Amino acid sequence: MDEQMRKKLGIEETKPVDWFETLYSESNEQGEGVPWANMAPHPVFQTWINLNSNIGIGKTALVIGCGMGDDAIELEKNGFEVTAFDVSHSAIELCKKRFLHSKVSFIQADLLKGIHEWNQKFDFVLEIFTIQALPPKYEDTLIKNIADFVAPDGQLLMVTEVQKEKRTFKKGPPWLLNKSYKKAFESHGLKLIEHSSSYEPQMGDELHLSLFRS
Ligand SMILES: C[S@@+](CC[C@H](N)C(=O)[O-])C[C@H]1O[C@@H](n2cnc3c(N)ncnc32)[C@H](O)[C@@H]1O
Repeated sequence: MDEQMRKKLGIEETKPVDWFETLYSESNEQGEGVPWANMAPHPVFQTWINLNSNIGIGKTALVIGCGMGDDAIELEKNGFEVTAFDVSHSAIELCKKRFLHSKVSFIQADLLKGIHEWNQKFDFVLEIFTIQALPPKYEDTLIKNIADFVAPDGQLLMVTEVQKEKRTFKKGPPWLLNKSYKKAFESHGLKLIEHSSSYEPQMGDELHLSLFRS
């Protein structure tokens, strides 16, 4: 994305989250206005959960940067008691309207600030495309704060895009990760137990699925 587009969207390195609220406040329950809205679980996550169905019975899950909420609903279908949060209040309101009868707790919260009462509280944490939605300078904080949510014996499932080039503010959003993210999670006490990647020929990037356990 060029500088003009970043300016138009109001994306600043020192104010990295405000534009999400602007975007969702101008969007609707059909996902119009949300460029990343699948209006369905992410296909890579869907394939994974189909192979691991009903793992959530009696367990808690947390969805990071839940967007329109479909991944959270999929976890609920698989037995989890789900909390899902997003920095955008309007995104959370859209989720509540879309899934009126769901028991998922949709909450507005900011991952950058950390949420201390959730530390080590969740058996399963799901992160799809949130770290890469924020400028590279926040990567360490985001990874630490996500790792902190995972309960003893818990798991973190992550779906992310990965580039070979160095991450710089000028290139995003999105700011695709480097493969070093795996070591960064391990430095916060998680262990990589499952990994797969696929090559995206048009972009020259990779799509990663990584499962960690504490
Ligand atoms: C690229 S979107 C991905 C949304 C969703 N995970 C998906 O795959 O459709 C990134 C999401 O992260 C949210 N987000 C960005 N920064 C955040 C933060 N600091 N705390 C919580 N959510 C954040 C955005 O509002 C947005 O919904």
